[in-house]
Amino acid sequence: MQDLTPRVLPCVLCFAAALAALVAPGQALAAGIAGNPAAGKKVFVATGCATCHTLKAAGAKGVVASNLDKKKTAYAKIITFVTNGTTTKGIMPAYKTQLSAKQIRDVAAFVYTSTH
Ligand code: HEC
Repeated sequence: MQDLTPRVLPCVLCFAAALAALVAPGQALAAGIAGNPAAGKKVFVATGCATCHTLKAAGAKGVVASNLDKKKTAYAKIITFVTNGTTTKGIMPAYKTQLSAKQIRDVAAFVYTSTH
């Protein structure tokens, strides 16, 4: 049986590089951050996050809830808030039925990269 490792490995590396380029065109994201910030900006605007939040990068000036520029929320926490919303710290709708998992990752990547 022939060992395929030398031929398979470059393929895997090349695939990973292609995938990384697809996920974040022209932009290097920190480890553990998934999603496309440019697409996420559109989600942020279209979903109406600006009604409640301030976020400079989106031109958002909402004052009902926290200023995301100041909060500098961790990526995983952004995902949790957008997915489930909150009823204990004020009211933020859960977006899991309105947005796809990809849209939630995109909007989280946008909020994260524009505040870190
Ligand atoms: C109806 C008002 C409202 C809307 C719309 C809204 N939020 Fe929120 N959001 C809140 C409230 C209230 C909280 C919890 C208290 C706080 O942080 O001000 C919160 C918390 C957050 C947090 C956690 C902040 C932290 O570090 O504690 C993030 C991140 C966030 N929202 C992002 C979003 C995004 C992205 C959208 C759009 C998809 C959105 N929010 C839409 C009201 C809203």
